[in-house]
Amino acid sequence: MKSFRDREILITGAGSGIGRATALAFAAEGASLWLADLDEQGNAETAEQARRAGARARTFHCDVADEQSVRALAEAVHERIDALDILMNNAGIGSAGRFLDTSLETWRRVMDVNLMGVVHGCHAFLPAMVEQGRGGHVINVASAAGYFAAPDMPVYAASKFAVQGFSEALRADMASHGIGVSTICPGIINTGIVANSIMEGRMGDPERHGKIVDFYRKRNFTAEDVAKSVLRAVRGNRAVQPVSAEAWGLYYAKRFAPRLLQKVSEKEPPFLK
Ligand SMILES: NC(=O)c1ccc[n+]([C@@H]2O[C@H](COP(=O)([O-])OP(=O)(O)OC[C@H]3O[C@@H](n4cnc5c(N)ncnc54)[C@H](O)[C@@H]3O)[C@@H](O)[C@H]2O)c1
Repeated sequence: MKSFRDREILITGAGSGIGRATALAFAAEGASLWLADLDEQGNAETAEQARRAGARARTFHCDVADEQSVRALAEAVHERIDALDILMNNAGIGSAGRFLDTSLETWRRVMDVNLMGVVHGCHAFLPAMVEQGRGGHVINVASAAGYFAAPDMPVYAASKFAVQGFSEALRADMASHGIGVSTICPGIINTGIVANSIMEGRMGDPERHGKIVDFYRKRNFTAEDVAKSVLRAVRGNRAVQPVSAEAWGLYYAKRFAPRLLQKVSEKEPPFLK
């Protein structure tokens, strides 16, 4: 897909960070937006900015972890259009803490949002895209944690590895329908995600949490830069798109120096010292 003009694009988690920045990048290209988020205020702000850029934007309150909520969203969309052109499953939450400190409640919540949210989106919207026969694209936002699992992120990494695996299978499945599937794997991006993450065990210490928030802020790789990579990934129908230097570094280290990477990951990251 080379042009996004008048394309029907739905983005989950559009009320902040990468979702908002990508919505605005598509808006600048003349797309027609369907924006979904739990955070109605943030979502309304994204829509307002998109409209100021000349795009059509409609907002929906939706919890991607809840099958019924996503189904209701799809019904509302399909009352107005026959099918999406692009579905971006972006909504996600962060979590950090060693395995022994991690509650099963955290496992359930993170998997429900980060993995099942992606599955619910595909389940609700892909049948109409396939039936309509116009092709299209699915963008699933995983993470560099979708191919490199740090010891402080067992749940988050499990959810993102799963998104990566699901997306790989889906890409081969959907190829005959002309529907591309891209997995976006950002590294350390300056958004609200860390401040809002579930932090357990030693990671729950406010001082340590503050250091991580600070580190992301100082690294200052922006959501707008991620958005540019997302549009490039769709245009080039890329399977996996690492975003930022650390995401690319981990991508190659995992392939060419997995043992070294394992050793390094056993050590405390410098920004936590
Ligand atoms: N920021 C990073 O460093 C980074 C790195 C790799 C991957 N990611 C991934 O990028 C995606 C976007 O994250 P972000 O950094 O923009 O974070 P963010 O916190 O700025 O935005 C996430 C948005 O998702 C929404 N959301 C959360 N749970 C939801 C739910 N159950 N239903 C609907 N909406 C929900 C939030 O309200 C928020 O508006 C996530 O999937 C995240 O895991 C982020």
